Amino acid sequence: MTKTRPEDLDWNNLGFKYHDLPYRWVDEFKDGKWQGGHLTQDSTITFNEAAEELHYGQEIFEGLKAYRRKDGGINLFRPDQNAKRMANSAKRLLMEPYPEEEFLKAVKEVVLANQEFVPPYGSGGTLYLRPFMMGTQPIVGVSPSATYEFRIYATPVGAYIKGLKPMPYEVSDYDRAAPFGTGQAKTAGNYASSLMPSLIAKKNGFADALYLDPKEHKYIDEFGGANFYGITKEGQFQTPKSDSILPSITKRSILKIAKDLGLNPTETQIPINDVDRFAEAGAMGTAAVISPVGSLTYQGKKYVFGSETEAGPITQKLYDTLFGIQVGDLDDKYGWTVKLS
Ligand code: PLP
Ligand code: COI
Repeated sequence: MTKTRPEDLDWNNLGFKYHDLPYRWVDEFKDGKWQGGHLTQDSTITFNEAAEELHYGQEIFEGLKAYRRKDGGINLFRPDQNAKRMANSAKRLLMEPYPEEEFLKAVKEVVLANQEFVPPYGSGGTLYLRPFMMGTQPIVGVSPSATYEFRIYATPVGAYIKGLKPMPYEVSDYDRAAPFGTGQAKTAGNYASSLMPSLIAKKNGFADALYLDPKEHKYIDEFGGANFYGITKEGQFQTPKSDSILPSITKRSILKIAKDLGLNPTETQIPINDVDRFAEAGAMGTAAVISPVGSLTYQGKKYVFGSETEAGPITQKLYDTLFGIQVGDLDDKYGWTVKLS
């Protein structure tokens, strides 16, 4: 694959896609230990045909971003939380956790090695980092691998969902995760199971699917790649409490910001039949940042949240505050950002 050069990029219109940048991180677990990681220029991976992850799905990943500040420096946002969540995903999938200190070092090295690809301040773009790990042992019976490969690639991205434009979503009849399944882990299988419901939603004219809790199909769970929130007509921030959703780092940050903004935030079960309580709704995640939800359609009934064409005032404020902290424009009172340069 041809390597991307900075001059090939239109920083204001990056989209959300892969670019083959000069450097990525690679490490290997074998003989009972991590071998010690290093940067490599090789973006291809060679596996045995019987590698565990290809058949039985021992694969986990993370997503975080590097942000260009106004002064030209580079910020990371809560990378320690990604390191921890990846270790938790590894435990759920019986994989070998990557040491958190090593994870942080690797993230920094990948960003600094590719720093000319961190989009300019003001472009809206960021450098997306994708740490991932897979079981590489050739195995025929279903059992965990004894060997793993850990990697981090980077790619410059614009918003996953462009602009703060409200989008319509369809509440899916399918599930992405099972009750007591792997919903809390960031593992490939959850995303594979979301492909068909997502395609159905798109064919029906929606931006994507929203999933209900897999046990009763009564309460809102999350989107395929982001958590859900609603702002009640009384101005309270509500987000689903569920054991089958990914514990979003953006959500945990927004819960603090919402408290500071006097939105009395709560994590609670949100019945799908009671979303009329919301004046605004949105999706939140690393890729999604804060993306307003214009409407939810469930069993033929459409629930509209405020304006279907413009972000509501609280959604706009949450976005401005979160992104302002991430790019270093606003006071980082919780110490969430890490300055790389
Ligand atoms: N839920 C799912 C299924 C996701 O894939 C993501 C993205 O990482 C999120 C929620 C948001 O998590 P975070 O805010 O940590 O990126
Ligand atoms: C992220 O936000 O980092 C994700 O992994 C979501 C993915 C669907 C792009």
